[in-house]
Amino acid sequence: MCGIVAYLGKKTAQPILIEGLKRLEYRGYDSAGLAMLSGGIIKIKKTKGRINDLEKILDKPIESETIGIGHTRWATHGEPNSVNAHPHLDYTGKIVVVHNGIIENYSTLKTWLQSEGAKFVSDTDTEVISNLIGYFYATGNGAAGQNKFEWAVQRALKEIHGTYGLAILCSDFPDTLIGAKNGSPLILGVGDSEYLLASDAAAIVEHTTQAIYPANNEVVVITAAGFHTKTLDNVTVTETIKKIEFSLEQIELGSFPHHMLKEIFEQPKSLSTCMGGRIDIQNNRIKLGGIASYLRELTRTRRIIFTACGTAFHAGLVGEFLFEHLARIPTETEYASEFRYRNPILEDGTVVIAISQSGETADTLAAVEQAKERGATVLGIVNVVGSSIARTTDAGIYLHAGPEIGVASTKAFTAQVAVLSMLAIELGRRRHISSFHATECMKELAKIPDKISRILQQSDHIKQIAAANIDRNNWLFLGRGFNYPVALEGALKLKEISYIHAEGLPAAEMKHGPIALIVDGMPAVFIATEGPQYDKIMGNIAEVKARGGKIIVVATEGDNNIKKYADHLITVPDAPEIFQPMLTVIPLQLMAYHAAVLRGHDVDKPRNLAKSVTVE
Ligand code: M6R
Repeated sequence: MCGIVAYLGKKTAQPILIEGLKRLEYRGYDSAGLAMLSGGIIKIKKTKGRINDLEKILDKPIESETIGIGHTRWATHGEPNSVNAHPHLDYTGKIVVVHNGIIENYSTLKTWLQSEGAKFVSDTDTEVISNLIGYFYATGNGAAGQNKFEWAVQRALKEIHGTYGLAILCSDFPDTLIGAKNGSPLILGVGDSEYLLASDAAAIVEHTTQAIYPANNEVVVITAAGFHTKTLDNVTVTETIKKIEFSLEQIELGSFPHHMLKEIFEQPKSLSTCMGGRIDIQNNRIKLGGIASYLRELTRTRRIIFTACGTAFHAGLVGEFLFEHLARIPTETEYASEFRYRNPILEDGTVVIAISQSGETADTLAAVEQAKERGATVLGIVNVVGSSIARTTDAGIYLHAGPEIGVASTKAFTAQVAVLSMLAIELGRRRHISSFHATECMKELAKIPDKISRILQQSDHIKQIAAANIDRNNWLFLGRGFNYPVALEGALKLKEISYIHAEGLPAAEMKHGPIALIVDGMPAVFIATEGPQYDKIMGNIAEVKARGGKIIVVATEGDNNIKKYADHLITVPDAPEIFQPMLTVIPLQLMAYHAAVLRGHDVDKPRNLAKSVTVE
């Protein structure tokens, strides 16, 4: 959570920082601030609220101010107000810092720094960083042959336990910008006589597509003459400049009112890109280059554990069904937040697969580290290239879904399920199913993008259904088999952006308690597509209808039988049950989107949430 951006170059920094912060605003949006460094003077402006609120208190940009840092916050330590907003200046007035992450030992360090005379003004953990750097800068001697600012940063960071992506300025070094990283994302964009540090590439691509990705415990020192990277022990690191693989167009709204809607509508394309070149029907192969050297181990594995959070967890649940069905491998899906604190039994032959859009989710990353420590092979299914999880896992498969900006995850879910489907087919082909069956699966999977396009045409119809039920504050989402995780996902989507209470359940569980919730007119969304459990779910629909529930059904096109039960009907094209989740989730994404808009909520920036949860 939180977004940081920093600029050093020849252009006026303020508008570049503001634009960058707007592109990072999905990472946090409760307060924001900027610090400019000019002629040895640090000028800070910060406020509670969003980037628009920050803009209102800024002075006109000064052309000669070409170095600065900015921050958009998702509060952890200290309520969102202008004092707790970043940047944070140290007690000597020389060091200013923006930070994304959490400093775990901040309380101990704060007490110690206070005993040394440092003054604190905020409730944040970040102020410990600026004060610690300021303390070493003021009291230390530095190291021979090294600039003292760089030395003080390295020295201070050795004392810090926790995660950080940092951009730091010092008033005595008006031409220097320092970045540092541990556990939180940080990218350095390398342009033509200009540099941008940022939490993610979205803030950089407008200026350059050349970037380096510093590793944990590295400090990058940038001046107009160039940059160098060192470890905290001052060992020089050789960096390779990489190309940022997405374009500005991909992160702009275009003609869509919200990123979430844009991303829902992008799914035919994002899935085609995700699967393109990987499904090789002619040779009856799925090509997953990233894990090629682990396929043998995976084929022989005795057990697979998916670990993930939120929507990615729901994708993992679909994966569990797919792996058991097609590959006959015992599979479990674990919340990363639970897995990391359990004492999981990872016998020889267990493979752990982490699923994450951002690749930065703190719990998922910790679960990966825990599994690695216990000697398991850990693979990743990740969207963001070069992210922490992508780099920490032994190998992985990228989603190639393109950047997902909307806080509510949509196209990442379908891409995660597509990747899991491809992997399950390939393992199935090697272990359990016939070549013919595998080819049939590949053909069906390849048809999914076009089928999604057809569902998207019902967006206005789904909006009407949302409108007809918009005054209801409790909804149920019910599905069975492969569509049970979709019910969970439908409920999560509605909750997080519409703030409507919703429960997702395996439909048969309803009788064991939740049926007591049903009152006249309560919306119950059933995923009742054709498949082995169709008759069973019809029974569940009848039970809810008999108690006055409002029945919203996602059914298979051409199912006339279901019409008599449904108050509202949405259809999806026919598909094998194993691939239905990529279709049945689409109407639920649209339902949540339209409900949120109808309720007047900020769809892309739901309250209390941020796109990637980089804190526990
Ligand atoms: O980036 P990740 O996939 O690791 O994120 C996991 C969850 O935080 C994420 O899916 C969250 O639940 C979304 N807001 C759901 O829409």
